[in-house]
Amino acid sequence: MTALTLSTAAAPGLRADAIVIGVAKGAKGPVVAPGAEAVDNAYDGKLAGVLETLGASGAEGELTKLPAPAGFKAPLVVAVGLGAEPGGKDEDAGYDAEALRKAAGLAARALAGSRKAAFALPIDSPGAVGAISEGVLLGAYSFDAYKENGRQAQGAKAKNGKAPLAEAAVLGGKPRDAAHKGAVARALAVSEELNRARDLINMPPNDLTPAAFAGIAQTAGKEHGIKVQVLDDKALVKGGYGGILGVGGGSAATPRLVKLTYTHPAAEKHLAFVGKGITYDSGGISLKPAGHNETMKCDMSGAAAVFAAVVAAARLGLEVNVTGWLALAENMPSGSAVRPGDVLRMYSGKTVEVLNTDAEGRLVLADALWAASQENPDAIVDVATLTGAMMLALGSRTFGVMANDDAFRSAVYEAAEEVGEPAWPMPLPEHLRKGMDSSVADIANMGERWGGGLVAGLFLREFVGEGITWAHLDIAGPAFNEGGPFGYTPKGGTGSAVRTLVRLAELTAAGDLG
Ligand code: BES
Ligand code: MN
Ligand code: ZN
Repeated sequence: MTALTLSTAAAPGLRADAIVIGVAKGAKGPVVAPGAEAVDNAYDGKLAGVLETLGASGAEGELTKLPAPAGFKAPLVVAVGLGAEPGGKDEDAGYDAEALRKAAGLAARALAGSRKAAFALPIDSPGAVGAISEGVLLGAYSFDAYKENGRQAQGAKAKNGKAPLAEAAVLGGKPRDAAHKGAVARALAVSEELNRARDLINMPPNDLTPAAFAGIAQTAGKEHGIKVQVLDDKALVKGGYGGILGVGGGSAATPRLVKLTYTHPAAEKHLAFVGKGITYDSGGISLKPAGHNETMKCDMSGAAAVFAAVVAAARLGLEVNVTGWLALAENMPSGSAVRPGDVLRMYSGKTVEVLNTDAEGRLVLADALWAASQENPDAIVDVATLTGAMMLALGSRTFGVMANDDAFRSAVYEAAEEVGEPAWPMPLPEHLRKGMDSSVADIANMGERWGGGLVAGLFLREFVGEGITWAHLDIAGPAFNEGGPFGYTPKGGTGSAVRTLVRLAELTAAGDLG
């Protein structure tokens, strides 16, 4: 990953490939954001005009390259858009953290192939330092483990595409200030783990089997002081995990249930995170048509997010106990696969009539939710690429938040907003429950077509222990970016929900949640 430092150096003397500055949309055209004064001075204070001539407006997503002024050691200035200039009614308002994150990410990605860049963006708080750092570390991400030559040494020219930006200096950050240093440390832990989640999502499903994922979790657990327990297929049979076994039964790559336990000696609260980890979703016997299965390696994004969040919580030493549950299985059609019409006896003891084998996520989650419930945590949050219906409702960048508690749903939604993850609260309408009534079992795994994302949420609710606060994040839309990269979001696996989960753990540790 990109090496990041805070620097008090002045821009002109900096040896770097580029200096990144911010440009905002002012009332009368682009304005140069604070942090870039030295660059603007070298342009005789006319940088805003130069940028306007070059077509810049300061809009988000805009990137303008211009030669550095005479006397600068760095040859290039990269101006990135920050959106509307803050101010107006609230005179103290600074630049929004998400605007900084996006701008830094865009610049970091555009500077792939460069050795070093200096980021001279507006910093008015430790939060801004953290946001810029996160933007750089997340935006510079690229997945090239499977390209010819494999991952290139950073800074070297890759045969296939450019190597990620090797080094970033955040100018205006105070290297001796505890709050600034803390913000960088947090950004580093969160971004490194989030990028690891992206790697897992991008890994092809022939390599990332349930067993392989479990092995990766075990290695990470050892490194970060997290207890990792793996139930393999034999242990799952013994324990009666009918949901995970049913879904995994069609694949030669057998399923796993992984439990990650992070504890803090002074913790007063216990959070459980549960992730859907379908390493590949073919649909099973209810096979998906061509055009719907090419990206289905992403169906373990929930488990990847949970894994990353637990490791990040451990690295940050948060004063809260966090348990992560990864429900890992491959959904394949075969002679041993679950059929539409089969009835599964779930870990909770309930029976489920499988009407569509492509509604498999809720089956593996049901077992993991019930397993998580046995420890009676203060709250459970599950994360899953669960339904195409949620994508239809909210599009490809926003995840849905459902819960059995209105206040908790709001808290989760607000935590997501705070960290820059677009989310939206969704209801669990009671009338949709009867659509899942089965004539042979306690419940069917499918219900009414309309509101399919909410139906799935209602199904999951049945497997949450009595009295336990629970929220469900359906990340089917934002988990995998099929379009071009934007802001700090790359193509492919995005790491959606990681930052929301980490924030929830932080809020719980601080006693600000539940
Ligand atoms: N993994 C899919 C949901 C999905 C779709 C995720 C598109 C990401 C992008 C899930 O297992 C699924 O197939 N859901 C079905 C449920 C239906 C059969 C009730 C769906 O949404 O069509
Ligand atoms: Mn499916
Ligand atoms: Zn699925």
